[in-house]
Amino acid sequence: MIDDINRIADAAAERARAAVSLDELRAIDAEVLGKRSEISSIKQRLGSLEPEERRQVGKAINEARAAIEEAVAARRAVLEAAARRERLEAERLDLTEVVATRHRGNIHLVTQAMQHLEDVFVGMGFTVAEGPEVESDWYNFGALNFPAGHPARDMYDTLYLEPSATGERPLLRTHTSPVQIRLMESRQPPIYAVMPGRVARRDTADATHMPVFHQIEGLVVDRGITMGDLAGTIDEFTKAYFGPGFSSRLRPSYFPFTEPSAEFDIRRPDGSWLELGGCGMVHPNVFRAVGYDPEEWTGFAFGFGIDRMTAQREGVHDLRDLFTNDIRFLRQF
Ligand code: DAH
Repeated sequence: MIDDINRIADAAAERARAAVSLDELRAIDAEVLGKRSEISSIKQRLGSLEPEERRQVGKAINEARAAIEEAVAARRAVLEAAARRERLEAERLDLTEVVATRHRGNIHLVTQAMQHLEDVFVGMGFTVAEGPEVESDWYNFGALNFPAGHPARDMYDTLYLEPSATGERPLLRTHTSPVQIRLMESRQPPIYAVMPGRVARRDTADATHMPVFHQIEGLVVDRGITMGDLAGTIDEFTKAYFGPGFSSRLRPSYFPFTEPSAEFDIRRPDGSWLELGGCGMVHPNVFRAVGYDPEEWTGFAFGFGIDRMTAQREGVHDLRDLFTNDIRFLRQF
């Protein structure tokens, strides 16, 4: 009888281990352990056995049930895990398709540089402002202390538009400096702002010149601003934008809207120099042009080109490559 019980238990465990679905396992479980199972019918006959034999057979039945239950539970765990995996797989949302099938393009190298410059200056406490690309003579020159007919105007080969009815000749701004004027007119000091934008000059495109290019202008107006603040700001910017191994120097120069004026160069870690832009202390006549009292307010300004600097940084040898919009070229950045 005990042999029968062991045989039944082994067979039942074997069937449980072979079950391929939870439904099948449930059916096997009911069949081998339920009321009408072989084990149950043997149990019902226990009462007719001698006490000693009844004890041994009873023990064998309990062990057999435990073994079958264990086999069923083990198989159930395996089948449930598989079912859960299957359900998760079926419910999974494939979000990769859109990204994989459509090229999203990338931001133009010059725009990337502008955004990076803005980030660096914002990090130094500056705000960002913009102005129009078509300007009047006053904003581009007059308010910046270029008197009519002044030779300093020859620094810029200006592109003019058709004269208006009043005889005024609008122009394409030759630099971002007119945004200084618009900004000072629109608010009161203190001002700590940078002004990026597109500018134009009558120039033939070649490897190092473009008739349309980009500059970023800086303006600080506050009480007690000195040339030391200017030099410190330029150096701070140099390290934040180019890297800690870079430094800067100022060289005396001339611009009508600053006095004194300087040009600034960036020293690369290998000791070579990059001429970057112009700067200086805001000229009293510029403050007067916007109605600021030059006895009360002091300030500095700076401006530099973005395209050439970026081309140098990225090893682009011909500026025109930046603007012919060959996607194979632009995609590299
Ligand atoms: N506007 C000048 C240019 O395009 C650059 C410049 C020089 C800007 C000195 C400034 C400055 O703000 O202070 O050549």
